[in-house]
Amino acid sequence: MRYLPFLSAVHELLEPQRYLEIGVRHGHSLALASCRAVGIDPAFTLSSELDCDLALFRTTSDEYFGRPDPLAATGGKPFDLAFIDGLHLFEFALRDFMHVEKHSSPRSVIVFDDMLPRTIDEAARVRHTAAWTGDVYPVLAVFAKYRPDLVVIPVGTQPTGLLLVMGLDPANTTLADNYDAIIDEFRTADPQPVPPELLDRRTVVAPQRVLSAGFWQVLANAAEDVSPAALRPDLARAVAASVGAAFASEGAAAS
Ligand SMILES: C[S@@+](CC[C@H](N)C(=O)[O-])C[C@H]1O[C@@H](n2cnc3c(N)ncnc32)[C@H](O)[C@@H]1O
Repeated sequence: MRYLPFLSAVHELLEPQRYLEIGVRHGHSLALASCRAVGIDPAFTLSSELDCDLALFRTTSDEYFGRPDPLAATGGKPFDLAFIDGLHLFEFALRDFMHVEKHSSPRSVIVFDDMLPRTIDEAARVRHTAAWTGDVYPVLAVFAKYRPDLVVIPVGTQPTGLLLVMGLDPANTTLADNYDAIIDEFRTADPQPVPPELLDRRTVVAPQRVLSAGFWQVLANAAEDVSPAALRPDLARAVAASVGAAFASEGAAAS
């Protein structure tokens, strides 16, 4: 399954009221939104037809989230679904996640693009290939070390995979508190040491399996003001039952 049909199905399952997209380009993924949508891209050139209540910002994600009120465009309400597909360098993708989680709710879903590079060259920080994922992939290792409370599911879409992140905690500052140490440890010069299991897609869940999983219902049934701690056990059970215990967060499994 390609990434756009997968994302389209996620929109249908989640029925977000507020969607955020970092990295819009021609609008192909933004065109899947039918709700209030916020798009951020310093250089978008739209070619897709869009049919949503849209606020489009011609700026970088760092500048946008540096503004006094990044939720002004949603009347102060958090994003329900976000797609991180902006600058494909590790530190930018990590900061995008930190910013988006802060403006999400515990029942929101964040999706990263390009988490599964097919070759070492494709994952280079200095782009020298036509198809390019950049070095977004170390975000996986960062989550494993610093945020075991999150549910993190690599999805085997074509061409270069997605990463689904759930069980969000907008008040969690672990990544921000350890940002410099994380960059020192996980940002590496080219050639990128992409783990073989990622290149071979050994720890990846099939897109259809993710779409038919029970956790979507758990998110849909959660109260608007649910706390991360209250949602986590049900989410973990549903994730374990439908995609495997390895993908349920550690924090949740313990509760
Ligand atoms: C891969 S494209 C997005 C494709 C789109 N999401 C889709 O699937 O149809 C990446 C986009 O990110 C934008 N971009 C680059 N740096 C950015 C930044 N710092 N913040 C936000 N967007 C950025 C680029 O201008 C480019 O249009």
